[in-house]
Amino acid sequence: MLILVSSRWLHLTMMSGNGHYHKNKQPCLMVLKETLIRHGFTFESETDTEVIPKFAKFVFDKAHDEEGEQTVTFAQVVTEVMRQLEGAYSLIFKSPRYPNELIACKRGSTLILGVKELTDANSGTFSHDDKTFTTIGKPKEFFFSSDLCAIVEHTKNYLAIEDDEVVHIKDGCVSILKFDYGKEKPASVQRALSVLEMEVEQIKKGNYDHFMQKEIHEQPHSLTTTMRGRLRANDVVLGGLKDHLKTIRHSRRIIFIGCGTSYNAALAARPFMEELSGIPVTLELASDLLDRQGVMYREDTAVFVSQSGETADTLLALEYALEHGALCVGITNTVGSTLARKTHCGVHINAGCEIGVASTKAYTSQIVVMVMMALAIGADKISTQSKREAIINSLPDLPNKVSEVLKLDNEMKDLAESLIEVQSLLVFGRGYNYATALEGALKVKEVALTHSEGMLAGEMKHGPLALVDETLPIIVIATRDACFSKQQSVIQQLHARKGRLIVMCSNGDASSVCPSESCRVIEVPQVADCLQPVINIVPLQLLAYHLTVLRGYDVDQPRNLAKSVTTQ
Ligand code: F6R
Repeated sequence: MLILVSSRWLHLTMMSGNGHYHKNKQPCLMVLKETLIRHGFTFESETDTEVIPKFAKFVFDKAHDEEGEQTVTFAQVVTEVMRQLEGAYSLIFKSPRYPNELIACKRGSTLILGVKELTDANSGTFSHDDKTFTTIGKPKEFFFSSDLCAIVEHTKNYLAIEDDEVVHIKDGCVSILKFDYGKEKPASVQRALSVLEMEVEQIKKGNYDHFMQKEIHEQPHSLTTTMRGRLRANDVVLGGLKDHLKTIRHSRRIIFIGCGTSYNAALAARPFMEELSGIPVTLELASDLLDRQGVMYREDTAVFVSQSGETADTLLALEYALEHGALCVGITNTVGSTLARKTHCGVHINAGCEIGVASTKAYTSQIVVMVMMALAIGADKISTQSKREAIINSLPDLPNKVSEVLKLDNEMKDLAESLIEVQSLLVFGRGYNYATALEGALKVKEVALTHSEGMLAGEMKHGPLALVDETLPIIVIATRDACFSKQQSVIQQLHARKGRLIVMCSNGDASSVCPSESCRVIEVPQVADCLQPVINIVPLQLLAYHLTVLRGYDVDQPRNLAKSVTTQ
């Protein structure tokens, strides 16, 4: 996302906000603002972003007072601003005082430089001639973005700018400098361009009306790419983890950490990880871990799950885990993201660009990656070998099962039509599908703007039962697994209280799970218990999608939400 902020004198583009990563520090922009106000600056907005260009002007004016006309270079102004900033930012500076110049810098957030018309990527290193750094191949256009997806339609040659690097473009030439607090002048650095492995089709809607719809229907393909090259006969190979498996197997705990949908994906994977690893597995919402300053040991393996790899809470929790000496593993969809760079090791989910704000295909790919991770960790455990091998052998068929469940599209549209007026919706799940209940409810909530709650069915009698009446729709997930008979009993109890039931069950189970004609059924293909959440979420994604379209809301950009939550 680009937010353009302009002052009269200096234009500054700030990408992804300025999230203060360092806890307990006074927000430095507020201190700078007070200083600027004391020097006669006035502010037009409440946004902290406005402080930065004004501070740059302050630096420029001050240098002029002391040294006369235009003795301060643009790079000096920017590096002085950087010296005063705390926290995460990506900034692009332009000024009429320095025509034909542009400076970009970043810390914490992602900043990508795309370079167009540089046909030979390998020759794209920045070379030194006496005073300036110039690009070989004379590229004509440069693109700055916080996300690789945004540059793919312009160029495939890019550079992921690293923290404290300053990109200076002047008269079509690029120089890259490394800012260092301890040194007055930043040093020049050489960087090689990378080539983006992504096709422009990935960021187009194609024949679909919305990105969310496209991404839901893409899941057979995204799951195939998630598994590609990772499955062997009776084995799973995750290149990014293989050197760390021994350490993980000796962990005191495995802690999954994430937010929103990524947390739900970890919740879905937890039972299998626990079973195959034999290690206690706990879950943390990143913000809660930080609020509590939760206990973390050097012997812990902390697994950070984040589609974007840029979620501020997750990155702060990562810093926290690194400080405590835990082994930090990243699971992300975004190559080159902060999460990918700062963790010790990890796995890319390779789900392809996810553009709709509501996460769909990333969720199912995250689950599959965590299942594969459990399979890799559990390779040396004899007691679970036959289950492990059965699951490895069933994984290649999972995309076909997802294609099968996608055929429920019209049925889900029909169900959405019957729910169009409802004010509230409950989803009950347990075991592997507690996560499905939370994630299904989150989808409905965030895009259809309908209140919905995912609940652990085992908690039903401890409060939620009071809500049950003939009007409140309740989706009960009752596919076949170890919790099936308990869910049958939940259905009976809800029916006895005249609940408005919608039951999700395995193919062929409709008549045995539905207590009456009035109960609606969603029949889904049955797969191994640990993979069932991948199947079961799909009808709920479709339901949320259709409910949103029918209610006339913005599917891809729900109000008040952002794709990457880069501020706390
Ligand atoms: C919901 C959704 C969010 C994100 C959450 C974490 O559909 O997308 O709940 O899952 O903001 O984002 P990432 O995975 O990028 O860390």
